[in-house]
Amino acid sequence: MTSILMISGSVRSGSVNSAVIATAAELLPDDVTPVIYSGIGELPHFNPDLDHEPLPQSVAELRRLIAESSALLFSTPEYAGAMPGAVKNLLEWTVGGIETTHKPTGWINPSTMQNRAAGTYASLRIVLDYTDASVIDRACIDVPVPRSLIDDDGIVRDGEIRTAISGAIGALVAAAE
Ligand SMILES: Cc1cc2nc3c(=O)[nH]c(=O)nc-3n(C[C@H](O)[C@H](O)[C@H](O)COP(=O)(O)O)c2cc1C
Repeated sequence: MTSILMISGSVRSGSVNSAVIATAAELLPDDVTPVIYSGIGELPHFNPDLDHEPLPQSVAELRRLIAESSALLFSTPEYAGAMPGAVKNLLEWTVGGIETTHKPTGWINPSTMQNRAAGTYASLRIVLDYTDASVIDRACIDVPVPRSLIDDDGIVRDGEIRTAISGAIGALVAAAE
């Protein structure tokens, strides 16, 4: 059974990135299970002193979800010129485990800013490389998503955006299978 662990880097309500993740989940093929990660805000700050058994419960859960997934999909905002601390923190917790090793990984970057949050996604690639995840280039896309194109139910219905997201998750699923 193929499953994709989907991670939004934003914890706020009405998040564009969370809407992108929800839309990607909706667009997955029927035989692929979306698992939307909701624990990013509960992870403790990374502390090597805690990175041993028994792990903090939220960290153990994160590692279990990664281990059980066939691939990872991220969508994150840029804050103050870099990825949110919550995303870096999550990735730091994966370095001490082997769950991300060779895990096909992609992202959907919905930034509408002029620089397209380029620095954030460049550093996301660097950090993912440290975790030994396998970044799938065709599953990493920039597709600007204006907040105005998100429906009240938190889903993007714009056809061009959905086609772009489908292309990325298709590449990710192909790599996972
Ligand atoms: C405190 C703060 C800092 C931000 N810094 C940046 C930035 O450096 N670069 C950028 O492109 N956008 C920046 N933004 C804009 C957010 O990335 C943008 O609002 C994004 O849609 C937030 O994603 P979300 O809706 O999923 O939470 C910033 C927003 C806030 C609130």
